[in-house]
Amino acid sequence: MKFFIINGPNLNLLGIREPELYGNETLLDIEEWLNSQKESEGHSFLWFQSNHEGEIINYIHSGINKANGIIINPGAFTHYSYAIRDAIESVNIPTVEVHLSDIYSREDFRKKSVIKDVCIAQYFGLKKLGYLEALKKILSSLK
Ligand code: DQA
Repeated sequence: MKFFIINGPNLNLLGIREPELYGNETLLDIEEWLNSQKESEGHSFLWFQSNHEGEIINYIHSGINKANGIIINPGAFTHYSYAIRDAIESVNIPTVEVHLSDIYSREDFRKKSVIKDVCIAQYFGLKKLGYLEALKKILSSLK
């Protein structure tokens, strides 16, 4: 199966960005780690990162008839992008929301996700393990 793994703004800076919150690993480290997990065997993963809302929306649209599932860390767009929310709702592809940090134990503005209710699950505070949990969730939903 084919999965899109979408990371939003500032996640290109993982590794140097607030490591106490997000860990020391880069996005590429996380990608390589996920590829090495047994759950990933036989599947293909298309990783996409953008700091631009419209590019993320276009990428979600490109999953129609192509992606079996989407794992998305929308970064700060999580908290206010109704356009990304609507894109996820429009494509009808099982989608899981992931956050490296625990968004519920941080500033108040992070406690709201406008994406959550169009996703089949949300994982937060698990660092890179959240991406693996998301994959497992989508795989079990497709059985
Ligand atoms: C984040 C949490 C968001 O609030 C923040 O804006 C990010 C990263 C996370 O992975 O914990 O950019 O999505």
